Amino acid sequence: MTEIMAEITPINHFSTRVLNWFDEHGRKNLPWQQDKTPYRVWISEIMLQQTQVTTVIPYYQRFMASFPDVFSLAQAQEDDVLAHWSGLGYYARARNLHKTAKILADEKQGEFPTSVEGVTELPGIGRSTAAAILSISRGVQAAILDGNVKRVLSRLHAIDRWPGEKNTEKQLWELAEGYAPEQRCGDYTQAMMDLGATLCTRSKPQCLLCPLQSDCQGLATGMPTDFPVKKPKKAKPVKATNMLVLQNAQGQVLLEKRPTTGIWGGLWSLPESQESELILATEQRFQAQITQHQPLNGFRHTFSHYHLDIQPHQFLLEQSSRVADNNKYQWYDLTTALTLGLPAPIREILESLLKQ
Ligand code: ADE
Repeated sequence: MTEIMAEITPINHFSTRVLNWFDEHGRKNLPWQQDKTPYRVWISEIMLQQTQVTTVIPYYQRFMASFPDVFSLAQAQEDDVLAHWSGLGYYARARNLHKTAKILADEKQGEFPTSVEGVTELPGIGRSTAAAILSISRGVQAAILDGNVKRVLSRLHAIDRWPGEKNTEKQLWELAEGYAPEQRCGDYTQAMMDLGATLCTRSKPQCLLCPLQSDCQGLATGMPTDFPVKKPKKAKPVKATNMLVLQNAQGQVLLEKRPTTGIWGGLWSLPESQESELILATEQRFQAQITQHQPLNGFRHTFSHYHLDIQPHQFLLEQSSRVADNNKYQWYDLTTALTLGLPAPIREILESLLKQ
């Protein structure tokens, strides 16, 4: 009994399930899936980077019609190659293709390398793209790890760290290498890309149709879209400032116009100070005598890139400040001030003053 069990084909095998799914649902009729030479697959993989399949198809066909092999590409003028790329974007891809074609034609008798290491030495081809080209065109057992596959594997294993982190990426590469099958590695590569692009999508995965659902630890958590984990947000730096509420004998406040560029550009704000000898520094700066000073309630205002801890200070000036009304400084009645374009925290300070 046990002997028979031991001989049963392991149908649960990861790559087998992926390949069975591919046989039934994968795309097999795209132009680069016919006559899968390294040259043709290489061009397709470069075009497909950051670009949708439907966009690529006509470009690919025109490119192949003009440059059917590595020698014709090597002999082309760069401008002609770029013209065939016009509209695809990321033109470094086209320049690198051309450079690589010349290297292959001049130094390698037009032969494409057979190892991942050899391919990654060529301009503009990374480890994953090299593995895609070699597995699809030559059946080499090599693992890919593009964005789609990172998502599939992060979900499958409910990896709770951001894939962009060095160690997490290393772990994902190890998983990818472990799963890449000896047989049919090219179909497996295409299957993993298709699975990621069609079922295991970022925000609406179709887990019920997925051949890996019974093993998917991300699905088991009930929240498959929590994986892959998002890039951790950097802690925002904290800056601090004193906001000076200078009031003259009429109760008017002195506002300062912000420079047109930068934070709160062109808005009326309060003068700010980082001085520690705040009273003395303020008297000197505004050529005024301060009769009363009281700190008001401090609070935090958060910008997209930093927190600003704001400490407002109210100063009553006896001798009216020599800071005249001018382009930069203006005295305003509180109620008038509140009709101006003010940054939210400044409005908050002035409104609290009105309630005093
Ligand atoms: N993106 C990169 N390579 C691809 C491929 N072979 N099929 C679909 N999308 C891809």
